[in-house]
Formats: sequence, C-alpha cells, structure tokens
Amino acid sequence: MLGFEGYTFTPDTLEPLLEHVAELRNFISQWSWLADMHIVDFFVEEHWNQLPGPWRASFRDGWSDASDTTAVEQLVDLAVSNQLWPTATTELHEFVARCHALSLERRAKTDPTSSTPVVVPALDDRITLGMNPKKAVEVQHLAYIIASLNKSQGIKLVADIGAGQGYLSRTLAYQYGQTTIAMDSDQLQTCGAERQRQLTERMVHHRGDHLSGSPASPMVSWTGQPVYLDHLTCLIDTDHLPDVHRQLSRTYHQLVHSPLDAQVPDTYLPPWTICGLHACGQLSNVMLQWFVRSSARCLVNVGCCYNMLGFTQGLMSDVSTRFPISEYLSKKSARLSVNALKLACQSPARWANDTQTSIGNFERNFYRALIHYMMVDQGLVKRDDPFPVLGRLPKSAFRDFQTYCQRAFQRLGMSPLDSDLVQEYYDRFRPRAIQMAIVWTLKALLSPCIESFIVLDRCLYLVEQGCHVSLVPLVDVTISPRNLTIVATKPSVN
Ligand SMILES: C[S@@+](CC[C@H](N)C(=O)[O-])C[C@H]1O[C@@H](n2cnc3c(N)ncnc32)[C@H](O)[C@@H]1O
Repeated sequence: MLGFEGYTFTPDTLEPLLEHVAELRNFISQWSWLADMHIVDFFVEEHWNQLPGPWRASFRDGWSDASDTTAVEQLVDLAVSNQLWPTATTELHEFVARCHALSLERRAKTDPTSSTPVVVPALDDRITLGMNPKKAVEVQHLAYIIASLNKSQGIKLVADIGAGQGYLSRTLAYQYGQTTIAMDSDQLQTCGAERQRQLTERMVHHRGDHLSGSPASPMVSWTGQPVYLDHLTCLIDTDHLPDVHRQLSRTYHQLVHSPLDAQVPDTYLPPWTICGLHACGQLSNVMLQWFVRSSARCLVNVGCCYNMLGFTQGLMSDVSTRFPISEYLSKKSARLSVNALKLACQSPARWANDTQTSIGNFERNFYRALIHYMMVDQGLVKRDDPFPVLGRLPKSAFRDFQTYCQRAFQRLGMSPLDSDLVQEYYDRFRPRAIQMAIVWTLKALLSPCIESFIVLDRCLYLVEQGCHVSLVPLVDVTISPRNLTIVATKPSVN
C-alpha cells in the first residue's frame, strides 16, 4: 500500500503476530533481572555475580584490564552489530542471536519488488525553519507516508496529535495540501507553531507566490493548493475523548467555513486520519484508543519516551494500566517494570555514530555506581533508601573521579569525603569498571526487544479491534532511534 517494506498484520493472519509476542514475553521475563537492574547499585548489589558463571569467565579471560580500550570497542561492536569474539561462550552467542531475532527490523528500505521505487520528495526550505536535520528527515518521510495513505483512502482531514512546533502539520498543509489541525496540550508549543507558520507565510509572500487568504479564497501554497491549517491547544486523554472530538470538529468547520446545519451532530467530520510523530508515552495509547472509538479512518503513529508511559502530566500513574493494551497480553498478565520501560528508550544501534561518547557513558556510569557504593559503605545513604537524585552534572564534573565526587557531594548538600579515602575506593574498583561496561552492553541488547514488545502490543490491540496494520521503519534507526511507524486502517476502507 505504501511502497515501503515492513510488517503487515490483519485479523485473518494473526498467528505469526501472536507467536512473536509470546516469544518476546518469554524471553523478556527470562532476562527480567537484567532489564530491571539499576546500574547505580551495580557494586552495592554485586550485579556482576548475577551473570551466568561461564559468561563471566569468558569475559575475564580476555579482559582483566579496564584500561583495555580494545575490549570497550568490542563491546560497542557487540551493541551495534551483534558481533561477538571467538572466546565467547555458546550461551552468550545464543543470547545475542535471540535478542537480534526477536527485535523488529529497524533498517528502513523501500520495497525492492516494487516496479516504481519510492522517491520521497525533499522538503521545501520554507517549511524546514526550526527543524534540526534529524527532525527534517523524519518529517519528510512521515508526511509522505501520510499524504500517500490519505490519497489512497480519500481522506479529507488530518489531526496531528502532540504536534509540538507543528513541523509535520506545516509540511502536510503547505507541501501536500492536506487540511490539517495540529493539536497539543502545551500552549507554548501551540504558540511556537503559530509563530513558525507566520514565518513560512512571510517567506511565501516574499517570493511572490502567495495569494492572500479570505473566507472565499483561502491562502494558497507554492504547490497551488489552498492551505487549511489550524492549531488547537487541547489535552487529549482517554476520559475526555468526546469533548476533544467536539473541539476538533468545531475547529475543522471554522477552518473550512462549513457551518454544520442543525441536523448534523456537532462531532461530524469528513473522512479523517489521526497521526502523531513521537507521540510520547501514554499519548500514543490514547491516539490508538481514539482512533478505534471514533470515525477516524486511518492512523499513523510513531511513539517515543516509553519511560513516560507511567506518567500523566508529570505525575506517576500505575504502569500496569498503560502496558499492555492488547487483550491477549492483558490476559497473560504481561508486565514491564519502570526500568524496563526506560531501557526501551535506548538505541544500541546508534552507539556506532560516536564510539567516544559510548565510552564516555561507560565512564559516567562507573562514577555514578562507585559514588553510590561509597555513600552506602560510609553510612551516608542506607542500602534500601531511594537513590539520591544527582541530576545532570556538567561535562567538566567528569574530568576525574575526585572532581566528580566534589561536584556530586556539593549537589547533594553533603560534606565531601576525604580525598585519600576517595582515591582508595577508586583504586579498588577501577579494575571492575569493565564489568559494568559488559553488563550495561548486555542490558542494552535487550532494549530493541522491549521496544518491539511494546510496539507489537499496540499493533495487536489494533488488530484485535479489526484493523489492518502495517509497521514500517520510518528512516534508518541510526538517524532516528524511534522509527517504528504504525499505519492502521479500518476494515470498511480496505
Ligand atoms: C515529543 S513531542 C513531539 C512533538 C512533534 N510531534 C515533533 O515530532 O516534533 C510530544 C508533544 O506531545 C504533546 N503532548 C503530550 N501529551 C499530550 C496530551 N495528552 N495531549 C496533547 N498533547 C500532548 C507535548 O506537549 C509535546 O509537544
């Protein structure tokens, strides 16, 4: 349908999807200790000892020295391309192969069997204002997918959910002539999006290819199509969907100047698509529910920030009400911990982009775990207390461990420990930094499995409701780690 290669799930071909989620569930629960483990208490809880004995031995053989950068580079290779070294045990090979096999394909490619290869049009420079290169590539591809889908399904309106600065909405409206309503709960985002739109308008004016708007003759973009775009500040949550729907409908009818007559319900909309780029946390679930319960015909969703699944407006909710959403996994009582949800936000494939940053992250983790061990060992923090929140320390704090300790204790409002004592801890634990790097890497390998589990649960929910679903990687994962795009249609329009 889209010309992009991906997965297809329908109510008639449910079996492979069920098998895949069942296998993911078993695998993730087998390795839940690794997914759930917190790296901060790595030394306090001796997490290294939880690794199967032969694995530990196989790492130790080659890598006793923490300053061995080849070892760290091999870990980055493992994260990026699942490459192991000859001395690794068979079980370790099996773990890595299984992580790979169960994770969804993330490399974007257009369908090689298609007679007309997909060429995604470049974005016009009048709409790329404010977008960084990553966002521009994401918007370029997603807008193309949405516009193609809408064309094939006779769609007349797009609701862009969690529109932020309106990058996607503007592209849909100006470049593809789609009537678009951008919705976001944050007034600052809506105002920012309006401002950006005015800049686009000015650029269009400046180049003289703009016709001034009026109810009878709306603005026309450089494509020659009228521009219908509006922004709406609106919190979208499951409890208020009818009200949200009414607001959308009102905005649409004002925008296209088609007042509803008294016979037509105030929720009436023409065929419409609900879409969202990086609809964070629970917002993706709400989108799916709104799609299923409403008259919307198509859905295009790219999720992100799975760690926010447990939050509503900054407040922690019960994660189990947010995952799973499919009936199948709910009946199986599938669960993911908050740490597992955080892990799903990682992207080991991107470690390749900057090996030095990856090595720097290993070092930061080591400092954080060691200072925690020192605080517990010195009785400054109890072992069962919540971890003291250090927040983000500036780069300069990581110059060396002594500097880090000074800055960290200052941040926590604690008196610093004697520097000789700090040095003693450092010298004792430094050779074990490599153990942390190993466990961190193995944990990261689970991350694509957990993200696949969350996204497939969403696909399964849609298929259970009778929808047809395609799942395509939007752009390459090394460019955009949250690239899994759910495209759903309702049976009546297939
Ligand atoms: C990660 S940003 C993505 C913004 C934009 N789609 C993009 O890709 O640039 C998520 C946006 O969703 C909005 N948002 C989060 N929860 C929302 C909700 N329940 N209702 C409406 N908007 C929401 C946030 O304010 C934020 O602007």
